[in-house]
Amino acid sequence: MKKMAIVCSGGDSSGMNAALKRFVEYCIRKEIEPWFVHDGYEGLIDDRIEKADYASVAGIITRGGTKIGSARSKRFMEAHYRKQAIANLHARGIGALVVLGGDGSFRGMHKLTQESDLAFCGIPATIDNDIAGTEYCLGVDTALNVIKDAVDAIRDTASSFGRAFVIETMGRECGYLALVSALTGGAEMCLIPEIPYDLNAYKRDFLREKAQGRRYFIAIVSEALKKSEEVAKWFEEEVGIESRVTVLGHIQRGGVTSVHDRLMAYRFVTHAVDALLEGKKSSVICYNDGGFEAKHIDDVASKQYSIPEELLSLAKEYGSE
Ligand code: F6P
Repeated sequence: MKKMAIVCSGGDSSGMNAALKRFVEYCIRKEIEPWFVHDGYEGLIDDRIEKADYASVAGIITRGGTKIGSARSKRFMEAHYRKQAIANLHARGIGALVVLGGDGSFRGMHKLTQESDLAFCGIPATIDNDIAGTEYCLGVDTALNVIKDAVDAIRDTASSFGRAFVIETMGRECGYLALVSALTGGAEMCLIPEIPYDLNAYKRDFLREKAQGRRYFIAIVSEALKKSEEVAKWFEEEVGIESRVTVLGHIQRGGVTSVHDRLMAYRFVTHAVDALLEGKKSSVICYNDGGFEAKHIDDVASKQYSIPEELLSLAKEYGSE
């Protein structure tokens, strides 16, 4: 194989730039020509594909986001646009494509594996950490650290003013970010879609704690529940404490890439390029129990991720006896 390309698709995550750098440098080491596809599957359709070299990735390892852009492509759902995308890769003699992205991107990649003879390898990259078959997705550690800093800062004002803060974290349908942030941020409340919650149990505990002198509360609520405002109102009406909502939003997607994500980017990409060189045509690099494995795309795309039971069991202590 002489030419390999890489594309970032869907919501960006910190670590994508570190992955691009490793991709270019490892390809050159393996005597493969590295190529960039700009702006996700949109750029693949519109032929925004260019050759990359050392200069293309100089100085980007520290930066969040992705130098080559990303997009959510509606057009890619249509077969004739995917045909165009495949034709563009063929026209340049590119034999393999590495896809950095989340579940939507892998569903698109799954189609490409069925509709072309080219080779594809996915790298899970989304702050939501919601890809089936892997316990870690690139960017999650950086996002968790951004959230940690925000929660620590909010605690300063919450404790000074004696207020309840409802902090909403991202995770379209998955409570992973909220769960880990609640456990590591010392929150009093954690609401995620994976665990049924009992506001009466919370109320009983919070009223008791208030009577014992607690001045403030930190509640971490996953955006997947769409309940942040409601919970803030509940604090005022049921617990009798002034409340505020902070929606952390897209700051969770940015930020200087953590050491963990830089190293994971390096390792994910190395395994992806190796898998393609070994002739694997339809795989996703998954990380579990400290090791990497190229799983077939059928075992990843369109399957449901579940938060590990052991982590969930820790969060079940919230709002219960
Ligand atoms: O990339 C994942 C994610 O950040 C989700 O957590 C969030 O629900 C969504 O993307 C936001 O999408 P957009 O950037 O299109 O607003």
